[in-house]
Amino acid sequence: MSKFMDWIDARFPATKMWEDHLSKYYAPKNFNFLYFFGSLALLVLVNQIVTGVWLTMSFTPSAEEAFASVEYIMRDVEYGWILRYLHSTGASAFFIVVYLHMFRGLLYGSYQKPRELVWLFGMLIYLALMAEAFMGYLLPWGQMSYWGAQVIISLFGAIPVIGDDITQWIRGDYLISGITLNRFFALHVVALPIVILGLVVLHILALHEVGSNNPDGIDIKKHKDENGIPLDGIPFHPYYTVKDIVGVVVFLFVFCAVVFFFPEMGGYFLEKPNFEQANAFKTPEHIAPVWYFTPFYAILRAVPDKLMGVIAMGAAIAALFVLPWLDRSPVRSMRYKGWISKLFLLVFCVAFIVLGVLGVLAPTPGRTLLSQVCTFLYFAYFLLMPFYTRLEKTKPVPERVTG
Ligand code: HEM
Repeated sequence: MSKFMDWIDARFPATKMWEDHLSKYYAPKNFNFLYFFGSLALLVLVNQIVTGVWLTMSFTPSAEEAFASVEYIMRDVEYGWILRYLHSTGASAFFIVVYLHMFRGLLYGSYQKPRELVWLFGMLIYLALMAEAFMGYLLPWGQMSYWGAQVIISLFGAIPVIGDDITQWIRGDYLISGITLNRFFALHVVALPIVILGLVVLHILALHEVGSNNPDGIDIKKHKDENGIPLDGIPFHPYYTVKDIVGVVVFLFVFCAVVFFFPEMGGYFLEKPNFEQANAFKTPEHIAPVWYFTPFYAILRAVPDKLMGVIAMGAAIAALFVLPWLDRSPVRSMRYKGWISKLFLLVFCVAFIVLGVLGVLAPTPGRTLLSQVCTFLYFAYFLLMPFYTRLEKTKPVPERVTG
């Protein structure tokens, strides 16, 4: 075996990669459960790719046959139903996991220097993931696939002068048609998965270059032993590879419960109008995107002017990109930040969830007002951050991790 590895290592850095990223990658010893979500995101990514490949074997990307081919997968293809439910539940699980993963970043200041690129690659993954989910949703060619895509693509029409040309360019037709379905299929199954996989590699390479942050937000490389190993660090393998199995088992219990018992999740994971084939002549009574887009959809609807709404929605995502440069706090973790930062993070999370709920519901004057208040609070978190993080009193940060 060792001779074989020598042969490989002389030609390919297999052992070096294993050591650099696993057996000799020293991670802080105080990771808590919030650190499960990075590896869980990887797990869900693999699930989406594997089930996606198998779904593609029986799916037909044409306006005439797409809807029926999904029904064929559900009823006639051996284990087709489980492939589809793993993939549709996986899409929602991906966003739950990624939102918690991002929340961990906000909580412990993981986006701060020197991890700005880790965060930026993460945000690019998030954008690509949104595009991937949006395009995947058109494929079953149900009523909500069609009309949801209609609403989102028409947003580009709000851009002055070139808006109409852009919408036509995206659709490849004067209206959403089989041509649109075909190109979304190509992007969903080939182009975007490659982009996402590439970005995940860059994300992890950037993280391993600087080392992981931790719940205390302190630098473990400041205190090393005589061999240059951080005193508060433990090798990722076997310690965290084994610990992550606990997270994987808990996750799979919940995930399988949904796949086997509530795959539609009351219409949130698979929306009811999507059990009816797309019909360009029949608009559903209430069009709402899938739950993971609804906070941004609520921001869009909170602004009365269409173009301004689109700009606000774009700004809501852009604000997350520049986060590393908005936080001026001398400390990273919420544990040592002042009460103003804690309050703002809490208000931001509540506003994001309330916006998510409002985005699902049909608008009423009261709900529109509430979504305007929450939109204001959402942006206040970012716009005021340079001030409150600099002015507030922080707590002293310990030299070594506290556990
Ligand atoms: C496909 C999606 C993603 C995958 C597979 C992924 C994977 C990972 C993994 C394996 C880690 C190391 C383990 C951990 O710290 O949890 C990590 C860390 C990190 N990720 Fe992601 N990630 C994804 C999306 C994102 C997004 C959307 C963001 C935020 C915009 C993000 C921000 C971060 C940050 C800041 C860290 C460092 C955390 C720390 O050291 O405290 N990631 N990611």
